Amino acid sequence: MITEENKLEGVENFWNDHLCGSQFINKEIYTPEFFNEYRAFRYKKEHHLLEIINDYDSTDRDVLEIGLGVGADTTQWAAKSKSHTGIDLTDEAVYSTTEHLKLLGLKGTIVKGSAEKLPFDDHSFDLVYSQGVLHHTDNIENTFKEIRRVLRPDGEFIIMLYTKDSFNYWVRIQFYFRLRLLFEIFKNKIGGKSNSTWDAHYKNFKNMGWKYWSWKEFPHHCTDGPDCTIANIYYKKEIIDLMVKHGLNVNRTEKYHFPIASNYPKLERKLAKYLGFYRFYWGDKGIG
Ligand SMILES: C[S@@+](CC[C@H](N)C(=O)[O-])C[C@H]1O[C@@H](n2cnc3c(N)ncnc32)[C@H](O)[C@@H]1O
Repeated sequence: MITEENKLEGVENFWNDHLCGSQFINKEIYTPEFFNEYRAFRYKKEHHLLEIINDYDSTDRDVLEIGLGVGADTTQWAAKSKSHTGIDLTDEAVYSTTEHLKLLGLKGTIVKGSAEKLPFDDHSFDLVYSQGVLHHTDNIENTFKEIRRVLRPDGEFIIMLYTKDSFNYWVRIQFYFRLRLLFEIFKNKIGGKSNSTWDAHYKNFKNMGWKYWSWKEFPHHCTDGPDCTIANIYYKKEIIDLMVKHGLNVNRTEKYHFPIASNYPKLERKLAKYLGFYRFYWGDKGIG
């Protein structure tokens, strides 16, 4: 049973059952066709990612990537960096990423473990990259402490976290999705049926009661699927304050991802600057 004490077990179970991104690819999982199609899909949809990775010169840098999913970004970093190490909480992501690297003839060290207790010596890496991961962990402060510990004195980080100052959080999740859940509850009460996603939301509502619909709880279930147990969404200031508290220096932040306009990449990029849900933080280890 998942309790307050073993929340990370719930996170691990969810991501083991839902290899991140694989749901979009209609090919047999772990085949070359699956991996190739996934990379093409990912970088078409999230064009900013290649730009962010390519902008960083890691030729003579040891890179640590936290949270791997299918391992697409891993292949990008492994191809251009002095060394690449990847860590993920789940067997599935470790397996997928290892196979993905093998397919492309790339080298990397892929290990299973948690961002909250990194199994690496102090001062082991020049760059920590983590995209869409740390908002899923139980205690983000532990991850910031660990990232600082494993970074070398001139080490840097690139971290993406869901942000509250976005269209997705206020309009889609807190306004539309919460109203929609009320509608689905009503529909079920009078004998109607919901589609599979809303059926899963309704089941969760039946298990948790009105707590599920609450301002605090419901967003966890509206980003990566109804059964996702932890998906925190943060204010920029909240994250900067926590990073600074743990000795990390934030140099720049930028928002991306506004899928409503995804057919028009230039327009999407402009709108995402104001309305986007994915906030990247670039920074360094700071002094001390
Ligand atoms: C949304 S996916 C993102 C994966 C990849 N970075 C991407 O952009 O596709 C989240 C991943 O983070 C991993 N994860 C979640 N919490 C973690 C933790 N505490 N330590 C290491 N990995 C974690 C999950 O297992 C999952 O593979």
